[in-house]
Amino acid sequence: MKSVLVFLSVVATAFGYNILCIQSVPSKSHYHLMKGIVDPLLKAGHQITFVSTFPEAKPVKNLKYIDISHIQMLTQNVDMIDRAKQGMSVVREFARNISRDAIGTPAVKEALMKEKFDAVVTEWFFSDVDSGYAAVQQVPWILLSGMTMHPHMENLVDTVRSVPMVPAIKNDSPIPMNFWSRLVNTFAFIYMSTGSFLDYSLVKSDYETYFTPIAKARGVTLPSYEEALYNVSILFVNSHPSFAPAQGLPPNVIEIGGYHISEEIPPLPKELQDLLDSSPQGVVYFSMGSVLKSSLLPEKTRQDLIKLFGELPYTVLWKFEEKLEGLPKNVHIRPWMPQSSILAHKNLKVFITHGGLLSTLETLRFGVPIIAIPVFGDQPSNAQKCVRGGHALRVDFTPDMGAPLKAALLEMLSNDRYYKRAKYLSQLFVDRPVNTTHLIQHYVRHAIETNGAHHLRSKALLYSWYELWMLDQVAFLLVILYTIYRVFKKIVGCFKRDKSIKTGKEKRH
Ligand SMILES: *[C@@H]1O[C@H](CO)[C@@H](O)[C@H](O)[C@H]1NC(C)=O
Ligand SMILES: *[C@@H]1O[C@H](CO)[C@@H](O)[C@H](O)[C@H]1NC(C)=O
Ligand SMILES: *[C@@H]1O[C@H](CO)[C@@H](O)[C@H](O)[C@H]1NC(C)=O
Repeated sequence: MKSVLVFLSVVATAFGYNILCIQSVPSKSHYHLMKGIVDPLLKAGHQITFVSTFPEAKPVKNLKYIDISHIQMLTQNVDMIDRAKQGMSVVREFARNISRDAIGTPAVKEALMKEKFDAVVTEWFFSDVDSGYAAVQQVPWILLSGMTMHPHMENLVDTVRSVPMVPAIKNDSPIPMNFWSRLVNTFAFIYMSTGSFLDYSLVKSDYETYFTPIAKARGVTLPSYEEALYNVSILFVNSHPSFAPAQGLPPNVIEIGGYHISEEIPPLPKELQDLLDSSPQGVVYFSMGSVLKSSLLPEKTRQDLIKLFGELPYTVLWKFEEKLEGLPKNVHIRPWMPQSSILAHKNLKVFITHGGLLSTLETLRFGVPIIAIPVFGDQPSNAQKCVRGGHALRVDFTPDMGAPLKAALLEMLSNDRYYKRAKYLSQLFVDRPVNTTHLIQHYVRHAIETNGAHHLRSKALLYSWYELWMLDQVAFLLVILYTIYRVFKKIVGCFKRDKSIKTGKEKRH
C-alpha cells in the first residue's frame, strides 16, 4: 500500500501542473515580464497556457499560446510621449480596455470554460478586473507586479504601511523624507486612492459582466468582486533592495527583481564579439528601448549625437532602427542588439538608456553605470533612484540633449566612482540565498499544493481599517477615561460640598 502511495505521488509530480499565464499589456517589455515567469515553470515540467499579445511561432514542449495580438491595436489611441496625455485616469481607462479585450477573446473564454487549471498567473497593470480569472477557476491566483512595490499592491496583500516612509513613484525625495515630502506623499496617496475608488464600480461591473457567464458555464457561482480581489495567493514583485527602498512585506510577497534576465548569458554574435573584444579602450552602448522609435529623434538631434559620439575615444554601439549617413568609424548602428550579452562584456563602460525598469535591473545585474534619458511612465523615477544610488547621471529628453549628454559622458568617463558604485551594487544584486528561477518554481507549486498559501498571507486582511489603526480601542479607552474623570469629579464635588457644609456650620457657631 505504502509503495503504491509513493509511486502515485511520484507520478503526480512528474506530470506537473496545468497553469494559465496571462499577458495582456501590448508591449514587448510586458511580454518579457510574463515570459520570465513562464520559462521557469516550463523548466519545472508544468503545462503552460500562455495568453499573449506576442505569441511565438516556434513550438515549445508543454507550451500552448492563445493569441491576443489584436490588443496591439489599442495602443493606437495612446500617446506615449505627451506628458499631458498620460494622466492616471487615461492609463486606467487604457488598462480597462485591455482587460475587456483580453477576456472577451473567444479562445480565452473557451479555455476558461472548458479547461481545468491548477493556478492562474496575471500581471497587475492598473486594473483589477483580472482577479476574475482565478476566481472562476477557483484556484490560487498568482499576481505579478512588473513594477516595484506601491501602495495599491500593498493594499491587496496587506495594509498600506509605506506612505510615511517610502516616497511614492512620482516623488523624488531622499529618504528619510522631510515634513513637506511626507505631506506630498500623503496627498499623492489620497489622489491615487480616490481615482481607484471612483473607478471601483466600473471595474466591478466589468468583472461581473465578463466573468458571470464563464462561471455559469463552469457551474460555479462567481464570488463577489471584493472576495476575488483580496484573494492573492502569491505576489511576485520585480524589485530588489539594491534598487528600491527596503520595506516590510508579508511572507507571500516575493521579490524577484531581475528575474527576466536569463541565468546563462547567451553568447554574442561573432561580429559583435570581435568588435567588443577589440575595444579595450572602452565601449559606450546607447539604446532607448523598444517603445521609443527613431522617428521621434529630430534631424538636428541625430546630427548632434553623431558628432558627439564621433569625438569620443571609445567604440559606440547605437541601437537605432534606421541607417544613418556619414557615420564616424567608431560608431556602429544596429536595429537590434543582444542587450544582456553586451552589458555583460568587460569592455563596456557606460550604458545610455531611457531608464526602463528592465534595462535598469540589467545594469544592476551586470554592474554598468548609466546615463539615463527618461521619457515617460516610471522612467523618470527609475532614473532618479539610480542617480541617488550613485551609479547614474540624468539628462533630460529634449531636442537639444546633445550638449548635456556630452557633459554627462565626460564626467562619467573621467571619474571612476560611478563605475565602482555600479560594481558594488551589482554585488548586492546577485548575492542572494536562492535564485529567482527557484523562487518562482517553489512558490507557484507551494501555492497550488496548499490551495492558496493562506498561511503566508498577512492577517491584516482579516481586519477593517479602523481596527488596524486601533481607532476602536482608542475610542473605548477615551470613553473609559472620560467616565473615570466624571466619577472622580463627582466624588471630589461631594467632598467639597461636605466640607463647605461643615465650614458653614462652624462659622455659625
Ligand atoms: C477605450 O475604449 C474606448 C471605446 O472603445 C475608446 O473610445 C477610448 O478611447 C479607449 N481609451 C483609451 C485610453 O485607449
Ligand atoms: C538555481 O537554484 C536551484 C536550486 O537551488 C539550482 O538547482 C539551480 O542550479 C540554480 N540555477 C542557477 C543558474 O544557479
Ligand atoms: C480564493 O482562492 C482559493 C485558492 O487560493 C480558491 O480555492 C477560492 O475559491 C478563492 N475564493 C474566492 C472567493 O475567490
